[in-house]
Amino acid sequence: MQVTIGDHDIEFGPKRMRLTADDAPPATYHHIGVRPVTPFIGADVEGVDLAAPSPEQISELKTALLERKVLFFRDQQHVTAHQHRDFAAHWGDLEVHPLLDQGEIPEVVRFDRGQDNPGMENIWHVDVTWQDRPPMGSVLRAIQVPDAGGDTLWSDMGNAYDALPDEIKERIDGLTATHDFTPSFGRSMSPDKLAEMQKRYPPQHHPVVRTHPETGRRLLFVNSLFTTGIDGMDPVEGRELLRRLLDQVKMPDFQARLRWAPGTVAFWDNRATQHYACSDYFPHRRVMERVAIVGDVPA
Ligand SMILES: [Fe+2]
Repeated sequence: MQVTIGDHDIEFGPKRMRLTADDAPPATYHHIGVRPVTPFIGADVEGVDLAAPSPEQISELKTALLERKVLFFRDQQHVTAHQHRDFAAHWGDLEVHPLLDQGEIPEVVRFDRGQDNPGMENIWHVDVTWQDRPPMGSVLRAIQVPDAGGDTLWSDMGNAYDALPDEIKERIDGLTATHDFTPSFGRSMSPDKLAEMQKRYPPQHHPVVRTHPETGRRLLFVNSLFTTGIDGMDPVEGRELLRRLLDQVKMPDFQARLRWAPGTVAFWDNRATQHYACSDYFPHRRVMERVAIVGDVPA
């Protein structure tokens, strides 16, 4: 149902949500347990040791990632940084992030947050969309977490797109948007460093709606952290449209939420989701390590 309150069109009531692009029946799994945490996004995966997954389990995990968009694994405290990297490498080449701190090996990014280095990931985003080939997925491992708080949320960009009013879908069809690291990572760089990095990583122009290369699903692909504007539009009109699209990402109807413990691992499809890390635990400490898998050029 759509109503107008003040200047805003508000959508509420039931949404037509889908698990897959073509409403295919849920996959069946024989080598892993997959327990959905919402009808459309997220699942707890059971029966896998990420330090030594079998080829059959990797194959089923590839299906599960596409179907559930984010997978949660518990009790993986024994997994080392090398095993973490090797697990992610089953999905493709691995990213070496040019701006974030590394852990003990180059492909592992370390987020060590606490009193002197508060968490800054509490904004809805897709990882690294300021590059021409943003990651296809990321594997995040919890090493130390606060007693309470520090949850991460993911939002399903297929259902977020599907639930847009037809009028907005028509307006954004074929549009591109600019993605730039400058307003986020750039703020803490010296002028010389910023100029060097801007030369090396110029803004990218990605489709506002991309098509998932494996599932064929249409996906909303603008985010609050790196998308700086919609290309070729009047600035005021473009800003208003972008704000409407970013509001869509925030709707709880499309989301799954993870409560971490040491040894919990989350693996998300970075093409099909956005995520948000709550920074409600300050000044407590939260230490995570992430490995990202190189993706394709969004189209
Ligand atoms: Fe992220």
